[in-house]
Amino acid sequence: MGKDVIIACDFAGEEETLGFLERFTEEKPFVKIGMELFYAAGPDIVRKIKARGHKIFLDLKLHDIPNTVKKAMAVLSRLDVDMCNLHAAGTIAMMEAALEGLTRPDGTRPLLIAVTQLTSTDEERMRNELLINATVEETVLHYAENAKKAGLDGIVCSPLEAGSVKARLGRDFVTVTPGVRFADSAKDDQARITTPEKAKEIGSDYIVVGRPITQAEDPVAAYRRCVKGFCG
Ligand code: C5P
Repeated sequence: MGKDVIIACDFAGEEETLGFLERFTEEKPFVKIGMELFYAAGPDIVRKIKARGHKIFLDLKLHDIPNTVKKAMAVLSRLDVDMCNLHAAGTIAMMEAALEGLTRPDGTRPLLIAVTQLTSTDEERMRNELLINATVEETVLHYAENAKKAGLDGIVCSPLEAGSVKARLGRDFVTVTPGVRFADSAKDDQARITTPEKAKEIGSDYIVVGRPITQAEDPVAAYRRCVKGFCG
């Protein structure tokens, strides 16, 4: 499993994103494209970033009936992304259909990662609005088990949970973890955070880092600091 730092390119449009990536002249970071940028700039932004040699995590969090997700995943797979995701809440049948849609005629496919319980959803909301009485931790691990049963590669989780996820689901089950901050940088709106060094120690496979790199005075230096701490 190759450990890597993924930069969350949470920009509003193409110009800003490509301008940001142009600062990286020596390395080609793995890039996360989320809903905001994808809906604003369309599939072309994926093709352009890919053509510049970057790996891409397309973070669109699909959740629909299995047939629709299968067909949508086939489109994303043809965009040649390296990683994409969906909501585990869509059921095992939906996740299996997604894998089928994602698999290219030659048998290759992007990594498929499940979102379990969004960090914005707390236990009170789960109980009162979603009628889920289990704890967040139980829900995350149960959804992770469902994802594994469906044949997915891993889940998105907090770096602090990566250890328990690996203990339950096995070392090869991929953990993609946002919520990473340098010890001396702003937390922003992230609550459960850790440093690149600690994320490595706990066992994350990929850390997703946005503002500590995108808003840094020197983004390339901040990226290198992450790589050194996490992959070094
Ligand atoms: O700027 P920051 O490092 O907080 O960015 C983290 C990225 O990871 C953002 O794109 C955010 O949407 C995403 N993310 C997250 N927490 C989750 C799921 C996704 O921060 N639970």
